[in-house]
Amino acid sequence: MTQTKLNIPRHIAIVMDGNGRWAKRKHRPRFMGHKEGVETVREIVKSCSKLGVECLSLFAFSSENWKRPEEEITNLMGLFMMALDREAKSLARNNVRLQIIGELSKFSQKLQDKIKQVEQRTEKSTGLRLIVAANYGGRWDVTRAVQNLAKQVANNELKADQISEELISQNLSTYHLSEEGVPDPDLFIRTGGEKRISNFLLWQMAYAELYFTDALWPDFKDAELMKAITDYSSRQRRFGKTSEQVVAEQAALSEK
Ligand code: IPE
Ligand code: IPE
Ligand code: MG
Repeated sequence: MTQTKLNIPRHIAIVMDGNGRWAKRKHRPRFMGHKEGVETVREIVKSCSKLGVECLSLFAFSSENWKRPEEEITNLMGLFMMALDREAKSLARNNVRLQIIGELSKFSQKLQDKIKQVEQRTEKSTGLRLIVAANYGGRWDVTRAVQNLAKQVANNELKADQISEELISQNLSTYHLSEEGVPDPDLFIRTGGEKRISNFLLWQMAYAELYFTDALWPDFKDAELMKAITDYSSRQRRFGKTSEQVVAEQAALSEK
């Protein structure tokens, strides 16, 4: 059997879904699913680091998740706090840089302080960039970018017709995480069987390859990640060009 060479995405974005159903299947409270989900995060971070993925973005809590029962929200916040506490050291040791995006002011001061502390603790890491989206919404992100640009127009620092796709991209929360800008996701994964984006990185995902799996997040371990990357590797990314153009370009590149 010929093994095709794996094409490792620079940026993988994941909607980690299915924790509740995982717990339900095991006749356990939803919280246990979230807890097991943290174990998956640990494993997937390790795998992505080893594979040389540059960025891993994880959707942990959406701006719509506030609609959940209060008890679940409290549990999720507690778990987030605990995971930050417990993982900070090993993230730094493994050269992983953790950054959180989202409207953080809605979180308790204690959680905000913890986030800052872990971000600072891992800021010198040069390996995998782990982006956790918390109280994040793609529409919120675009709205905020537009507000920033509108303020610059109002202050005569920018003309309205100078607003470009590039400028909007540069004002999104992901862009600011790195001096050279974070690349847009190449591969979008959603676990848990639903086939929707649920307001994750809307603008940034314009050309991401989409991969949906029925595997529930607590079961999405290394083997499942490899399936997703193998599937991604078999795709031809055309970005509007014809298939023949892409093949010709690749041939020219490999001749160099
Ligand atoms: C995803 O799992 C985790 C969060 C949204 C925080 P869910 O809690 O949505 O799990 P299901 O969809 O109910 O199975
Ligand atoms: C999306 O999952 C958000 C996160 C994984 C954090 P949901 O389970 O909240 O998504 P919907 O509401 O079913 O689309
Ligand atoms: Mg869900």
